[in-house]
Amino acid sequence: MSDAKELKIYEIGKGFYLVRSDEKDFHRNIYFKRFSNDKGKAINMIMDPGTKKDLPNLILATKKLFGGIQNTHLIFLSHQDPDLTSVVPALLATAPKAKIFASIDTWRLLKMYGGIPEDRFMAIEDFKGDILNIKATGHKIRFVNATYCHFRGAMMFYDLETKILFTGDFFAGVDTRKDGEGVYATEESWDGISLFHEIYMPSTRALQETINRITLLEPFPDIIAPQHGDVIKGGLLLDFISRLYNLEVGIELLEKDTPEKDLTILAINEFLDKMKSVDPSFHKKLIEKLKVAKDFTPPFVFSGDVITDLKLSTTEAIKAIWNMADFLYSGENIEEIRTYFLSALDQYNVDHPFIVEESEKEEFVERTGELKDDLEDLIG
Ligand SMILES: [Fe+2]
Ligand SMILES: [Fe+2]
Repeated sequence: MSDAKELKIYEIGKGFYLVRSDEKDFHRNIYFKRFSNDKGKAINMIMDPGTKKDLPNLILATKKLFGGIQNTHLIFLSHQDPDLTSVVPALLATAPKAKIFASIDTWRLLKMYGGIPEDRFMAIEDFKGDILNIKATGHKIRFVNATYCHFRGAMMFYDLETKILFTGDFFAGVDTRKDGEGVYATEESWDGISLFHEIYMPSTRALQETINRITLLEPFPDIIAPQHGDVIKGGLLLDFISRLYNLEVGIELLEKDTPEKDLTILAINEFLDKMKSVDPSFHKKLIEKLKVAKDFTPPFVFSGDVITDLKLSTTEAIKAIWNMADFLYSGENIEEIRTYFLSALDQYNVDHPFIVEESEKEEFVERTGELKDDLEDLIG
């Protein structure tokens, strides 16, 4: 989105706005809040501002909402990941009044970008009762810990005026809604939320403790606004909270005497994700091939570019990907691709006996070749 006319800004509560990045499978949500009173005072805030790619949208949106990016006062960061912080140095340069609000754990890593003066950072831990009083306008905001969801110092931000809880990566999802339009969650959003949490959240206990903190909020939130995926409100709010409370993720998922299938799916998605950043054109070709149905139903069930189910045995699925990668990859670095695949499988403790057989076969051929050479030397 580079044209002002194309930039969609959604108002999800009073003075609370959302701009989405363009990706169809896994996008970023950037939120803006304008705290204003009837005396004409206003304080402008951006939540999880995004990557350098988002800077044009930040400029357009703030121009429309705040009268210019230079009028930004507060920048809230839920944690330090680059998908929400890599634009921060550029943003601070264009918004000289803006201060960053984040946890100390986040700051420790954030400052490694370099060039962020310490006096532009405010530690959330320094606010009494985790409440920030905005004196200029009379508003109150509350910070809520999202410890280990997914980062130790992760924080959420609760806007008491709109009853919108900005949750960062908590309640975030990859895009699984079929219509792809609109910003509010439907039943179809759940697949993307559960998949995201299975991959990124370290433990069910961490989810439960963060949910406990949310349920203690007074007043209870009307809306949950995550950094990826859909905005959750209405009947789905309590429904998704209770489903997330019981979702097995991270360490529990690994330890579980699990259907091998779930772990295989996670491992394959991990590999695909890696390929997307390492070699996007190979990733695209591979996804296209895997989506093709041979005789009847496609063996891999996709939601966007993410596999959600397998219609074949786990061994067959691994074999299919291995062979497909071999078949499609024309570069010299096939060994590197294989290593990525094997390490994704190992990460989720997925067995791959046939691959061992393959390598043993290679060794055998090599050994036989050497024997033959030795014999030829002896005879010759
Ligand atoms: Fe993150
Ligand atoms: Fe994120």
